[in-house]
Amino acid sequence: MKHNRSSLAYQARYALTHPHKVLPHLRRLTRDTWLRLRNPDHVSYYRAVMKSDAACSPEGAVGSHTHRRWLALGRMQFDYLKKHGLKPDFTMLEIGCGNLRAGRLFIDYLDTGNYYGLDISPDILFAAQETVVANGLREKLPHLTPVRDLRFAFLPNGHFDVVHAHSVFSHSPLHVIEECFAHVSRVMKPDGWFDFTFDRAEGKEHHVLREDFYYRTETLVALADRYSLDATFMDDWEQLRHKQSKIRITRRS
Ligand SMILES: C[S@@+](CC[C@H](N)C(=O)[O-])C[C@H]1O[C@@H](n2cnc3c(N)ncnc32)[C@H](O)[C@@H]1O
Repeated sequence: MKHNRSSLAYQARYALTHPHKVLPHLRRLTRDTWLRLRNPDHVSYYRAVMKSDAACSPEGAVGSHTHRRWLALGRMQFDYLKKHGLKPDFTMLEIGCGNLRAGRLFIDYLDTGNYYGLDISPDILFAAQETVVANGLREKLPHLTPVRDLRFAFLPNGHFDVVHAHSVFSHSPLHVIEECFAHVSRVMKPDGWFDFTFDRAEGKEHHVLREDFYYRTETLVALADRYSLDATFMDDWEQLRHKQSKIRITRRS
């Protein structure tokens, strides 16, 4: 992302070229201001955003405006991890699993009980349960758990082969990402890996409405290093033409 979407100049230019988006943006601005006043900490605020969005459409709430896109975005995540060596006997933790856009494919592929999905939004987890039923995945016994933070305090040491977070840190201030980095290696197997996507800023780091956050790659790599984690920018993900970039974290031996 070369542009700073929070700057007035960018927003004025955007409004002139996309006049039909002005009214929806103003509505969102009003709603978000109200939700922020009622929820001073980020996680409570974003949980309230998800509640409001999921009430309109769970698929829209996770960022897919058509069912076709919802299916395609889930497939893209699944195919990528499978190409990178995901196996049915792996244990997987999905942070911010939403309504299982990709999770339904992971649950289906992994052995029974090996999928753990976490989310800060109970409302989107209700929708996730509906996805389990609609896709005939009850027998796979997925774990779907609401969380208040990313400390993973209730999960065992060294348990997960793969940790996955798609389009979660693109909605997270740096202190939330830091909390995750500070704790994630404890729950990963020594040779496990943690993939996450982020909205990449090429210029100034910024956020829009405290809903969308843009980071430079170097910021996230340096943050990982502070917790003795190695971070690799995934070039092959860029070829998929998704608008976010991907970093892989591994434990430093
Ligand atoms: C854009 S959706 C993506 C959902 C899913 N990863 C997917 O690709 O369909 C972001 C999800 O992350 C959740 N989320 C946001 N911040 C979180 C946090 N700090 N911890 C756990 N979940 C979070 C939201 O509630 C939402 O369900």
